Amino acid sequence: MNIVVVGSGAMGLLFLKQLKPKSEVHLKHRRFEDVHSSYMFTDINGLTSEIHYKTSDQSFLRTADIILICVKSFHIKDVILDIEHLVSPTSIIILMHNGMGVVEELSLEKISKNPIYTMLSTQAARKLSPKHLRHTGLGINQIGNVVNPISDSKIESILNNLSSADITFEFTQDISLQQWKKLSINCAINALTAINDVANGDLSAPQYDELIEKVTREVVTVAQLEGASLNLADLLHTIKTVIHNTSANSSSMREDVLNKRRTEVEYINGYIHKLGVKHGYLTPSNTQLFEQIKNIEACY
Ligand code: PAF
Repeated sequence: MNIVVVGSGAMGLLFLKQLKPKSEVHLKHRRFEDVHSSYMFTDINGLTSEIHYKTSDQSFLRTADIILICVKSFHIKDVILDIEHLVSPTSIIILMHNGMGVVEELSLEKISKNPIYTMLSTQAARKLSPKHLRHTGLGINQIGNVVNPISDSKIESILNNLSSADITFEFTQDISLQQWKKLSINCAINALTAINDVANGDLSAPQYDELIEKVTREVVTVAQLEGASLNLADLLHTIKTVIHNTSANSSSMREDVLNKRRTEVEYINGYIHKLGVKHGYLTPSNTQLFEQIKNIEACY
């Protein structure tokens, strides 16, 4: 299969490496160009090797079976507008980003006729330098449709073909519920680690328990108002497990703040705030975290 990965952040480079054994995978740079490049990859066991790849020119993009877009939520629109007139109508677009609300905000069905899927990954990776990636966490990759579905059997067979010893994909019909669960994890962890400048594991200290519970309670209520049913106790247990399993990780939002980059808070705590306003339900804890991160961004 021909695959174009858009986005050379940690997750983009991780998927490029993992998809390479079974497919022709090119990385799309900002400009279309056909050049060879490489980066160092340290696997989960600490073994380092060099990964060689080509960048995508327009002709390769036209042949792509899959376009995997691993960019921040607020860059997705620009990427889709940039490639939409070049891609084949049968290319499957897969979005991978934190947070929710992108599809509604962009009315993706109006700007693209392609099948668009979203991927939730619990894998983790970290850039040690611009040309050195470290795989820091194993996990699963769930994929579900957001716009213009193709048949379940077809997407399942494509995902089977992509899977290898390095990576497997699971198709889910209920991606929305999984997105809500992932959102609750990001609402509880990301802003708190960024504001307090701590690693994920530090959130296991009792001083954070009350706020994590309030934030998660608001997510459960907002999800319910939107028609999704979440269980508070199960979510709090999952959040504790993620904090424990990723204890040494620095969350993506903390990394953004440390590097003075725009964060995805509008699509995380800000999304809960926005939906709270829509339903006339106050979300003081998420609103406070949203505003604190926006204030930090304003001081860069
Ligand atoms: O955004 C992140 O950093 C991750 O989604 C998570 C799960 C919080 C782990 O660091």
